[in-house]
Amino acid sequence: MSLLVVDNISHQFGSLRAVDGISMSIEAGELRAVIGPNGAGKTTFFNLISGFFPPSAGRILFKGEDITALAPHRRVEMGMARTFQITEIFPELSARENVRFAVEIAAHHRLDLWLPAAERRRIEARTEALLGLAALSERGDRIAGELPLGDQRATEILMSLALNPTLLLLDEPTAGMADQETYDITQLIRTLNRDQGLSMILIEHDMRVIFELAQRITVLAEGRVLAEGTPTDIAANEQVQVAYLGVPR
Ligand SMILES: Nc1ncnc2c1ncn2[C@@H]1O[C@H](COP(=O)(O)OP(=O)(O)OP(=O)(O)O)[C@@H](O)[C@H]1O
Ligand SMILES: [Mg+2]
Repeated sequence: MSLLVVDNISHQFGSLRAVDGISMSIEAGELRAVIGPNGAGKTTFFNLISGFFPPSAGRILFKGEDITALAPHRRVEMGMARTFQITEIFPELSARENVRFAVEIAAHHRLDLWLPAAERRRIEARTEALLGLAALSERGDRIAGELPLGDQRATEILMSLALNPTLLLLDEPTAGMADQETYDITQLIRTLNRDQGLSMILIEHDMRVIFELAQRITVLAEGRVLAEGTPTDIAANEQVQVAYLGVPR
């Protein structure tokens, strides 16, 4: 059974078909890249999968269950988490506080003023384990909004990991980053997929990152699937070169 099955989903903004009959299956443990030119419908596709709005047509199955009409927070409870194209953290809190906040949310303790010591220790341990994944333990007490962009992105990824996802949706995690930051985020994603078995869909423009990480690529253009295949297949695909990579015919 595939982890995620997207069956012919569509979404329109007015007369614009932003997502126009996309189908895709993601297997457990897979890391899939989704690429395509600006405005291809990639973020809208994520919004449909994560339930920000319902598709106008089609079905979405997650872990064999029809989630097409399920609320976003119910999808999170089922094991789906996402990050946003524009980093969403609390900039005035430290990185550590951001991550701890997410750990507390996941444990349904956010509003509990008084917690047993054992539970508080469990929350601290989980927070530190997550910070350690991105080598953020030492810098963790710095105000998140003042950290380099790469660390802010990493903080956001750690917050989504705190929700214990089986499927993580990442929308352009390396956008706007310098080479070293891109490398660090790529290694974090690689560790999560290869070592921890986390399934992911990664919207990404940087082909170096895609070649390093993805087993398969789906190319979107004008709300449709233009091609799907291994990175080598896709790099050699003439239609993709014309539509996306900007190579003239
Ligand atoms: N909330 C919205 N209201 C109206 N139109 C929208 C909305 N969100 C997206 N669109 C339009 O839908 C199309 C697809 O947008 P989307 O953001 O999904 O593209 P994308 O592939 O993520 O692009 P990018 O690479 O620039 O992030 C675009 O034409 C966009 O202008
Ligand atoms: Mg987008």
